[in-house]
Amino acid sequence: MAASEPGSAANFLPRQRDLAHLRQAASGCQGCSLYRNATQTVFGEGPAGAKVLLVGEQPGDQEDMTGQPFVGPAGRLLERALADAGFERDEVYLTNAVKHFKWEWRGRRRLHRRPSASEVRACRPWLEAEVAAVRPSLLVCLGVTATTAVLGRAVRLKDLRASFAASPFAIDAFITIHPSALLRLPSEQDRVDEYWRLVSDLELARARVA
Ligand code: URA
Ligand code: SF4
Repeated sequence: MAASEPGSAANFLPRQRDLAHLRQAASGCQGCSLYRNATQTVFGEGPAGAKVLLVGEQPGDQEDMTGQPFVGPAGRLLERALADAGFERDEVYLTNAVKHFKWEWRGRRRLHRRPSASEVRACRPWLEAEVAAVRPSLLVCLGVTATTAVLGRAVRLKDLRASFAASPFAIDAFITIHPSALLRLPSEQDRVDEYWRLVSDLELARARVA
């Protein structure tokens, strides 16, 4: 993507591309309109050298307030699933396809809205820079937005779930569901079953990098 292309995070990338410089630069990103209604940029977290880089969709309400990825209900569920799949905390870097919270008022709650394809595209330079700085062995895509962002093409999750795919990053990607999809299931039994299916997906990813 050309650095001068309008509507892209590419215009905000710093010269030094280590995680600290990237985080600092991303805090001032205006590469698409989502920064306007959000509290702050929610950059990825985790060590450079993490074996696995997990990609979610975008920050939620609590992430927007705290500035940290995956600290809300979906994040707590993901953290538990990662631990149940045998991951140590320092083996994973957590980030999102889009770094600002997109939402609308629904009563008194800020309801998440799915980012558009152009917003995902605008934000992708941050993801590319994170992948380059972390140098993981595997990218784990959580849900359809993350999978589209990583593979760079429209996908159907049910065709790809629990499989590995070559990515344009020259690093293999593994595809699973987004943890918030679990939280939306109305039946407790389905939530339990799907939780263990997510854990077993993550075990496949774990086995690949172990
Ligand atoms: N929290 C995040 O940080 N990302 C998501 O995709 C969902 C919740
Ligand atoms: Fe920049 Fe991404 Fe935020 Fe858009 S969503 S302003 S591209 S950091």
